[in-house]
Amino acid sequence: MLPDKAPDEDVFCGSADLKRDAHVASFEKYKELYMKSIETPDEFWGDIAKDFFWKTKHSGQFLDYNFDVTKGEIFVKCMEGATTNICYNLLDRNVHDRKLGDRVAFFWEGNDPGDDLTVTYRELLQRVCQFANVLKSQGVKKGDRVSIYMPMVLELVVAMLACVRIGAVHSIVFAGFSAESLCERILDSECSLLVTADGFYRGDKLINLKLLADEALQKCRDKGLLINRCIVLKHLSKEPEEILGSQSPPTKRSCPDLQQDKQAGRVKKTRPVPQVPWNPDVDLCWHALLRGASDECEPEWCESEDPLFILYTSGSTGKPKGVLHTVSGYMLYTATTFKLVFDHQPDDVYWCTADIGWITGHSYITYGPLANGATSVLFEGLPTFPNESRMWEIVDKYRVTKLYTAPTAIRLLMKFGSEPVKKYKRESLKILGTVGEPINPEAWQWYYNVVGDKRCPIVDTFWQTETGGHVLTPLPAATPLKPGSATFPFFGVVPAILNESGEELEGPSEGYLVFKQPWPGVMRTVYGNHPRFETIYFKKFPGYYVTGDGCRRDKDGYYWITGRIDDMLNVSGHLLSTAEVESALVEHKAVAEAAVVGRPHPVKGESLYCFVSLTNGVTFTCTLEAELKKQVREKIGAIATPDYIQNAPGLPKTRSGKIMRRVLRKIACDEHDLGDISTLADSSVVQQLFQNRCSTAV
Ligand code: WT7
Repeated sequence: MLPDKAPDEDVFCGSADLKRDAHVASFEKYKELYMKSIETPDEFWGDIAKDFFWKTKHSGQFLDYNFDVTKGEIFVKCMEGATTNICYNLLDRNVHDRKLGDRVAFFWEGNDPGDDLTVTYRELLQRVCQFANVLKSQGVKKGDRVSIYMPMVLELVVAMLACVRIGAVHSIVFAGFSAESLCERILDSECSLLVTADGFYRGDKLINLKLLADEALQKCRDKGLLINRCIVLKHLSKEPEEILGSQSPPTKRSCPDLQQDKQAGRVKKTRPVPQVPWNPDVDLCWHALLRGASDECEPEWCESEDPLFILYTSGSTGKPKGVLHTVSGYMLYTATTFKLVFDHQPDDVYWCTADIGWITGHSYITYGPLANGATSVLFEGLPTFPNESRMWEIVDKYRVTKLYTAPTAIRLLMKFGSEPVKKYKRESLKILGTVGEPINPEAWQWYYNVVGDKRCPIVDTFWQTETGGHVLTPLPAATPLKPGSATFPFFGVVPAILNESGEELEGPSEGYLVFKQPWPGVMRTVYGNHPRFETIYFKKFPGYYVTGDGCRRDKDGYYWITGRIDDMLNVSGHLLSTAEVESALVEHKAVAEAAVVGRPHPVKGESLYCFVSLTNGVTFTCTLEAELKKQVREKIGAIATPDYIQNAPGLPKTRSGKIMRRVLRKIACDEHDLGDISTLADSSVVQQLFQNRCSTAV
């Protein structure tokens, strides 16, 4: 399955320095461990589990599962019988057993340069316990769902871990999503409480988050779900009496109260603060609640397969899926992938630029790094604010050793050339990582040559919200790299490539990427809809987990992701379904029908190209175009804003009425070689659509 020898063509290998201390220092070692992980998983994962705290040990085999729909219900159970608490493993274990209380957990870097905070493991533990007590006092119990809609602030980590401590299930909604999207997610997961913030700045732009949260809660009420508690963090608008009222003044660069340093008057003096409408029947002030809350809180001991969190990801029907992860398997998997893929060492300063609102932030800002006692940078701002050097300034400021970002960010920064990068030294960097979409060779080379000064291997990590952690990835000191390939499977993962008839292909081949058996971090179900989980991932090819991605295996056994093969779009590393955008468009009374396709975009990877057929008598105007853009933005969020909207009096359809997206994709790109269009009902619409193409983004 794995190659006998490293490939002979041009590849990139980790330096001797890196190999000296690496956890997995050679390709031979990787292969040996890989075989162990597949042949004797109980032993392999059992050794890893020894580093963690278990209130009770597991009995029986490490993994129990059925991955074959023809044999009954799909299930995965990991470490049945064990009880633990992840928050205890991330914080108490590091503070008390490993004596890492004084180690920095996070360097928080705000949107504005100079606005920063530091929190140690001990301080984080105290804050989390306090907030866990607050949640309890608000009646939140084990198993209850709590929605979190917050910017990239330390309190977001506090809120999520406080849930974990008391066995509540967090459902974090990315703060870039709209009120409508938030409402949909709160309703689906039947959350009993919302945690949000007044607002935040993205560059110079103020986002009034509380207004969106209020709108979402009103929509929930209109639909019959009464949420009568909303905890609001005053991130920007803290009142002076709240500072005076608190206990001891903060010591330099620490945060007994995470907000206090900022209030010492370093930042945002000139910035307007957000409007915060306050409904005393519903809204509760984070700081007021925290005052007086005890900083001791006994963790709730959870079963291995108790739910840990729900995170929504786009579904091809347009309705987001609540991906559910559970306790023990997710903890072990994120901890192990973090340790080995970034070759974590005690003196590292690690920085993942993702937002915690996405799975990358869950697994590789919160869970994986904290499980390893790592020191991370948590960045609130943008890579281009206040200028294009911001990321490199941060790398030098904290002496970042491991940097994990997305191809879209690399392409964005590449546009400004190497000058803004070269202004900073970046000599602390050792390993670079990417995630979110296939990285194009040009971006790979720039990242490697310019950012990493040809010193740092790049780990191109392929995974999904559903997989919990990396599933195809290099190990930086072990795997010879080929730019653009996610290389080989992580431990416990068994990939295969299938053809359309579901046959496994051997050797060099291309087809559907599937996995043959579970690994500890794989999702367990779609929240509240197990049949949907089985249909989406297991029905097409019985016996396999279907990723939805196309993949090629080369002669050396390397895996190359070729992109989605379902109706999903990847915009800036995040999935959107065409159906989701289409349904937002047709909700407008002027639109009778809509079809959305992806068009390659130099920075975002894909942009949204929308074809709309209007209802009788309506004419296509700039105003309508603007309204439609706004509608999609408000329904889903800024990430889904259409780049092109084309008036399409007719759409290319088969005789059975199915829209031929393949043809629309060609039209969007102005490619006239349409292939076989003999199934098209009326070929004259194609000509018309080519004539009316939008050539520039609106
Ligand atoms: C989809 C999952 C996993 C965190 C971010 C996105 C694409 C992800 C890679 C990569 C090629 C990649 C796939 C996948 N993808 N990483 N290294 N190379 N494609 O999470 O929103 O669940 O999206 O992102 O298409 O299926 P997500």
